[in-house]
Amino acid sequence: MEIYDYIDSHSSKASEALDWVVRQTHLRTNHARMLSGRVQGEFLKILVQISGASRVLELGTFTGYSAICLASGLPEGGHLDTLELNDELEDVILEGFERAGVSEKITLHLGDCKQTLERMRKEGTPEYDIVYMDANKREYSEYYELVFDLVRHGGLILADNVLWDGKVCQEPLPQDKQTVSIARFNDMVASDTRVESLILPLRDGLTLIRKL
Ligand SMILES: C[S@@+](CC[C@H](N)C(=O)[O-])C[C@H]1O[C@@H](n2cnc3c(N)ncnc32)[C@H](O)[C@@H]1O
Repeated sequence: MEIYDYIDSHSSKASEALDWVVRQTHLRTNHARMLSGRVQGEFLKILVQISGASRVLELGTFTGYSAICLASGLPEGGHLDTLELNDELEDVILEGFERAGVSEKITLHLGDCKQTLERMRKEGTPEYDIVYMDANKREYSEYYELVFDLVRHGGLILADNVLWDGKVCQEPLPQDKQTVSIARFNDMVASDTRVESLILPLRDGLTLIRKL
């Protein structure tokens, strides 16, 4: 048994709603590998619970798997704003939220998250406890600057896929824009004195960044 399968089989089982999201993702998209999956989903839920977060922001909803996990960890009255570019996913996202019983806790914002974040900044949205970045890997550095002021001191920014299949440890080809961008983002976070950070080798790498 592969070590990841062992971890998977010895962690909490996914809900029926999450299994439904996985099936629909395979049926309706060609990108099921983008799902964060059960182990990371459970990690996100527990992180929200133990941190006591009540306001969470997600960049990159896809079919709603991680959004359901984040929202499931929220207390009564807590809220998740989740941002997604692809409006063709709206139906599956909203049905998944209904099935998971978390619709009341989530607002889905369709459109380019950079524009949504600019609007939130202008409107003076209340600060978030946790931001989970999982949209376009080429834009992580921009997202980081855009969300930084939206996170409270002591709050967390999480960034997914920061190891990019281990390619960040190799000399990237200049045309490999995703690896170049993620490596630049990782360097930027590591040298940012406004935060303390740790890359967890969970799945494809998840950075935990705590704003001081
Ligand atoms: C890796 S998937 C997210 C997976 C999801 N968090 C999960 O765990 O199930 C990335 C998503 O980001 C979306 N995306 C890419 N660029 C974006 C942008 N500029 N604004 C909002 N969403 C974007 C894509 O359409 C895609 O659905």
